[in-house]
Amino acid sequence: MENSFLIHNISKLLLSSDSPVPFKKGRDQSFISELNNSWLLVENGIIKDFGTEETAPKYHGPVLDAEEGIVMPAFIDAHTHLVFADTREDEFIDRIRGLSYQEISARGGGILNSVKKIKNISEEELFERSWDRMMFAVSRGTGAFEMKSGYGLSSESELKILRVIKRLREESGLDIKSTFLGAHSFPLEFKENHQGYIQQIIHEMLPVIAEENLADYCDIFCEKGFYSPEETEQIIDASLQYKLKIRLHTNQFTHSGGIPLAIKYGAISVDHLEELNDDEISALTNSSVIPISLPTAAFYMNCPYTPARKMIESGLGLVIASDYNPGTSPNPDLNFAISLACIKMRMLPEEALNAVTINAAYALELNDVLGSIERGKKANLIVSRPGTNLNLIPYAMSYDWIQHVILGAISDEEY
Ligand code: NIG
Ligand code: FE
Repeated sequence: MENSFLIHNISKLLLSSDSPVPFKKGRDQSFISELNNSWLLVENGIIKDFGTEETAPKYHGPVLDAEEGIVMPAFIDAHTHLVFADTREDEFIDRIRGLSYQEISARGGGILNSVKKIKNISEEELFERSWDRMMFAVSRGTGAFEMKSGYGLSSESELKILRVIKRLREESGLDIKSTFLGAHSFPLEFKENHQGYIQQIIHEMLPVIAEENLADYCDIFCEKGFYSPEETEQIIDASLQYKLKIRLHTNQFTHSGGIPLAIKYGAISVDHLEELNDDEISALTNSSVIPISLPTAAFYMNCPYTPARKMIESGLGLVIASDYNPGTSPNPDLNFAISLACIKMRMLPEEALNAVTINAAYALELNDVLGSIERGKKANLIVSRPGTNLNLIPYAMSYDWIQHVILGAISDEEY
């Protein structure tokens, strides 16, 4: 592996900047800088310099010919449940036959089905399976991740998932943020005793997670049939005492009350937002909470999409993420999410690219090191095949447009 090299013969360098790129919102969400006929120098995995061809340095180290492909920052997936034991295609068929997500969940399927599967898998096997899924996402251009627990719903299993996330980070060297989602559902035995489980989260899980530094954030599924606003607030309160910042699954199926709580407690993000009214949009516009839309989940659930146009036109900035999970989004490929964002949510390709790069970096508090092409940031890059332009990516949905994914280093066979 070489981690110092020059890339030349770049037709367009996208999202490069001489100064820190801000979170893109409102009209700015459609702005992507373009540097034509350019080069980029990487030193020790860090972007050292870039410019147009006539200023190219004489370089004696390894040189990668981009063959007139475009170069952009690698994608950042700001919402995944990638660490799960197994797929759930039986429920996919149940939904085709007419059952709703909530009906499947109420009879012990859904999240609880994944909980059963996690109990019966070793930490080693869970790691191996998760590693393969992560590497598939990497091959499709994703270079950094957020990963949630939430298929454990007991101290033992939640910690198992969080330890796997930690090991994925350590062994890959990738930027991976970890989120504790113990409040994803209620275990069957606590169906009628919500407080019993919430007390476990607060008094058994959170202290160990904080002590072992196993999570950066705490997430709660604030939704009808899952966690009520009062229950959500109780867990937010406890998490903040352990210095875990908040992200919320909210407004997936109903106006579930998560948005006022997220704003009140300074949450980092509110995620899903398929059901979002004008009051909620204007409340978000006046806050610093970042909206994360998960179009792949809306696609699989056959439900409305986040009203992206209305949000952007109200001045908001959006993040798009995969929500990769075995129930509502069995697809880690952000290219698919980008296509859906454009086709179903009427986002422009530029808006979608900002949503999975610089805006996603802000949503994971990684904006100092990732998300744009700036001197001093990590060289996490995608080099396209020749003839690719940004509009082609969402349009030719399954076209294999990626020539190289470079995450700090290139391997010998790439130049
Ligand atoms: O983000 N909505 C809650 N959690 C996941 C789905 C989890 C599952 O069905 O396994 C989501 O869509
Ligand atoms: Fe999710």
